[in-house]
Amino acid sequence: MQSVSLGQVKEQSYTMKESLRALKTNIQFCGDDVQTILITSSIPNEGKSTVTMDLSRSLTESGKRVLLIDTDMRKSVLIGRLRAKDRNGGEIYGLSHLLSGQRKLEEVLYTTNIPKLFMVFAGPSVPNPTEILDKKYFGELMEFARKHFDYVLLDCAPLGAAIDAAVIAKHCDGAVIVIAQGMASARMIVSARRQLETSGVRILGAVLNKVRMKKIGFGSYYGGYYGGYYGSYYGEYYNRDDRKGKKGTK
Ligand SMILES: Nc1ncnc2c1ncn2[C@@H]1O[C@H](COP(=O)(O)OP(=O)(O)O)[C@@H](O)[C@H]1O
Ligand SMILES: [Mg+2]
Repeated sequence: MQSVSLGQVKEQSYTMKESLRALKTNIQFCGDDVQTILITSSIPNEGKSTVTMDLSRSLTESGKRVLLIDTDMRKSVLIGRLRAKDRNGGEIYGLSHLLSGQRKLEEVLYTTNIPKLFMVFAGPSVPNPTEILDKKYFGELMEFARKHFDYVLLDCAPLGAAIDAAVIAKHCDGAVIVIAQGMASARMIVSARRQLETSGVRILGAVLNKVRMKKIGFGSYYGGYYGGYYGSYYGEYYNRDDRKGKKGTK
């Protein structure tokens, strides 16, 4: 196994930590048959990678062994954002190396300086991510991951742009949709949900992210634009949406 050090691990605010704790609890209460979870959204920049990383860390703090797989081979940001460095000074290999048959599993699996957190990075962008995800290597990786980790979190490409998440969903026990306040339209969110449903994966719930938090009085804001509000509306969002559907207001 390779080893990487993560130089940039942001401290979370109190609100963020509380919201994350709620999300983690919700996931743990989904049952012990929910071990492999994909995290997606309808459009880019809603916070999938952020939520996946924060949730992974939070689960390790509960003593879980967690593998984070960056499957977004179109827009891979984690290596750069986390300032990941190979401990031996070498190149960091990733999922695209594995799925294209260039590297073996043990060459793309990294331990990190966060105890119990393991990572598979995305690797260089490839022109055909959906196609290589459908090959046997991905299934083998998931089989291995199930045996060796308590949780496997998969950071996916957004559903609006590609069908990667639907392909990945076949290998997962559950899916979480990240919805950033005021970004995707209701129509896009509903369509993302349908795409996931078609793939047959269990939708565990939604995370409302980037919530604008208003202070009472003086009209100022606190927490900044990105309040962070993980975990709320978990599962609830869709019920509201269904009711709307019945009234024919969609
Ligand atoms: N709750 C949050 N609070 C502050 N910044 C956030 C939050 N969620 C996401 N961001 C920021 O928004 C941008 C997009 O997030 P990212 O996780 O890369 O989205 P995605 O993986 O869905 O494309 C990043 O700059 C990230 O730091
Ligand atoms: Mg991302």
